[in-house]
Amino acid sequence: MGHLAVHIELAMTNDVLIHTEAGVMTLTLNRVDKKNSISVAMYSAMADALAQAATDASTRVAVFQGHETIFSAGNDIGDFLNKPPAGMDSPVFRFLHAIASFPKPLLAAVCGPAVGIGTTLLFHCDLVYAGDNAAFSMPFVNLGLCPEAASSLLVPQMLGYHRAAEALLLGEPFMAEAALEVGLVNRVLPPLEANNYAQQQARKLAAKPLSSLIETKSLMKKNQTTQVLQVMAEEGASFGRMLTEPAAKEAFTAFMERRKPDFSQL
Ligand code: COA
Repeated sequence: MGHLAVHIELAMTNDVLIHTEAGVMTLTLNRVDKKNSISVAMYSAMADALAQAATDASTRVAVFQGHETIFSAGNDIGDFLNKPPAGMDSPVFRFLHAIASFPKPLLAAVCGPAVGIGTTLLFHCDLVYAGDNAAFSMPFVNLGLCPEAASSLLVPQMLGYHRAAEALLLGEPFMAEAALEVGLVNRVLPPLEANNYAQQQARKLAAKPLSSLIETKSLMKKNQTTQVLQVMAEEGASFGRMLTEPAAKEAFTAFMERRKPDFSQL
C-alpha cells in the first residue's frame, strides 16, 4: 500500500490515472473530453511513473489503457503550438525513452482511435489487445511533421515497407483486424472487454518470475534498443524543427479553426 500512495503522488494530473495493484501498474488515459490527447503534464506523470516502476520491486508489469471509445488522439495540438518539446529532457522525450527502455513487460489495451503517439507507443509494448473499434493512424505528414518514437524504423519493420508508406506517407488509418494481421495487435476483442483482458494477461505475467521476464525481454530487444534510441533522437531533431515551420503551423491552426489545412503554397 505504501508504494501505491507513492505512485499516486507522482501523478500531478488527473488526466492520467496511475494505479498499482498486485504487481500491475495501470496507466489510464483519462482526458476523454479532449479525446485523451496527451498534454505535457501527462507525459511527465507517465515518464515519472515508468522510471520509478522500472526499478521498484512492487511493479512487475505495466499496462496502458484508455476509454472504450477512445485510446488517444495523440499529442495535445495546443501544446504543439504553445509548448513545443525542447530537447531530450522534455517530458515527451523522457516518456519515449521510458517506453523504449522499460525492462519489464509493457501492455496496452486500445479501443477507438489511436492517433500519432497513440499508435507509435504500441510499437514499444510487448502485448497489445484491441477493441474491434480500434483505428490506428500516424498522420504526421498531414500535420506537416515526420515520424516520432522510432516509428520510421519500427513501422516498416513490422508492417513491411509498402504498408508502412501507406500508414506514414498517406497517414491512412488501419483498423483492428489489419493490425492483428501484421502483428501489431495480439488479439481483437469487443471494446468493453479489451481493458479487462489486458489486465488478466498482466496478472498472469505478474505471477511469473520477474527475473526471467526481464532477462527474456532484454534478450529479445537488446540488439535493437541502441538503434531505437538513436532513431528517436534523430526523428526528435527533425520533428522539433518541423513543429516551427509553416506546414505544421497551418495544420495546427486549421485543426483549431475546424477547417481543412491548405498546403498548396507549402
Ligand atoms: N489535441 C488537443 N485537443 C484535441 C485533440 C488533440 N490532439 N484531439 C481532439 N481534441 C479536442 C478537440 O479540440 C475537441 O475539443 P473541444 O470539445 O473543446 O472543441 C475535443 O477534443 C473533441 O474532439 P473532436 O475532434 O470534436 O472529436 P471527434 O470525435 O469528432 O474526432 C478524433 C476524434 C480523434 C478523430 C479527432 O479529434 C482528431 O483527429 N484529433 C486530432 C488528432 C491528431 O491529429 N493528433 C496529433 C497526432 S501527432
